[in-house]
Amino acid sequence: MKLKELNNFYKNKKVLVIGHTGFKGSWLTACLKNFKSRVYGISSNIPTKPSHFKLSRIHKNINEYRIDIRNYSKLKKKINQIKPDIIFHLAAQSLVRNSFEKPYATWTTNSLGTLNLLEILRETRIQKKTSIVIVTSDKCYKNVNQKKGYLETDILGDKEPYGSSKASAELIFYSYFHSFLSKKKMLNLATARAGNVIGGGDWSKDRILTDVIRSVKNKKKLMIRYPYSTRPWQHVLEPIHGYLILAKDLYKNKNKLNGESFNFGPSFNKNYSVKELLIKIKKYIPNIKWILDKNKKKPYEAGLLNLNCKKSLRLLKWKNILNFEQTIQMTALWYLSYLKNHDLENLTLMQIKDYEDKIV
Ligand SMILES: NC(=O)c1ccc[n+]([C@@H]2O[C@H](COP(=O)([O-])OP(=O)(O)OC[C@H]3O[C@@H](n4cnc5c(N)ncnc54)[C@H](O)[C@@H]3O)[C@@H](O)[C@H]2O)c1
Repeated sequence: MKLKELNNFYKNKKVLVIGHTGFKGSWLTACLKNFKSRVYGISSNIPTKPSHFKLSRIHKNINEYRIDIRNYSKLKKKINQIKPDIIFHLAAQSLVRNSFEKPYATWTTNSLGTLNLLEILRETRIQKKTSIVIVTSDKCYKNVNQKKGYLETDILGDKEPYGSSKASAELIFYSYFHSFLSKKKMLNLATARAGNVIGGGDWSKDRILTDVIRSVKNKKKLMIRYPYSTRPWQHVLEPIHGYLILAKDLYKNKNKLNGESFNFGPSFNKNYSVKELLIKIKKYIPNIKWILDKNKKKPYEAGLLNLNCKKSLRLLKWKNILNFEQTIQMTALWYLSYLKNHDLENLTLMQIKDYEDKIV
């Protein structure tokens, strides 16, 4: 029923994905193509090589543009040309470690880029209903090492540049919404804060699964830096499902969602460690080999952050659909197909279909 509703809603809608070439953006774009939306994409580049975007041929049947979101006038011109019904804003410098190497680019992309989008919305006379989902991150919260999950009302802003630039995007959103955008009757917008995701086709630096696949491909042992650190693993399709519900419900003006923020995190009873993840993956990709890194000087890694997602459950009826085993299985099978040079465009569509079949 819920899937049918999503299908009916997105069919023929003009949807703009900003950051469509990235890991999450390309999966979102594939879902929208499945719904038969008219999809537009804006990104500055394809951030990795290889990429889910290229391997799954996401560029097919969409209109896409290479624009840097820090370029206000180019971004404005294109958004005004497209006149989308829905905007998903995912473009970002998305890696914590990179944010230490490139703090200025991280800040300008993540904060100024979001500011540009909001200013365009403020300046433009929007004459048709439009809903916007701005994707930030669980790292926007000040990490105070609390065990209980972070709530949407918890304090924002931490020390590292990525998290604080995302917190800043949240503050800009809050200020713009309450000072200007809440008065625009045609506009409904919200932010989405998800944790780390896994899934086929992520080739970003310093992601454990990416490293696993590279090591298998290069026939090398994998160096594990933090075997016992736990992560809230969730499949990339889980928060995407949340973003899709959020944009739809915003558009339909449901449940007073306008101006709100939502957490999208995993709901397993247990957090699994890197080692547990590797053991599970080995079931599907047996030739994985790893050794533990004894080097004391390890790169910065954020402490564990759990999200409380009760608001998303209550207002959006969103929750995770896959358990840990299914999450790992789907991810491992995608990469196994990559290693075997199988058709990944079809596989991505099949995995979306499998996921959708589980939506009740
Ligand atoms: N992947 C995760 O685990 C995760 C977790 C929490 C939040 N997020 C957030 O979700 C969003 C998507 O993440 P992802 O993993 O797909 O990221 P990604 O790095 O794979 O993709 C980033 C996208 O942003 C675009 N981009 C970067 N800088 C740009 C600029 N200046 N102008 C225009 N486009 C630009 C890239 O071209 C690409 O399309 C990001 O906002 C990220 O912070 C991701």
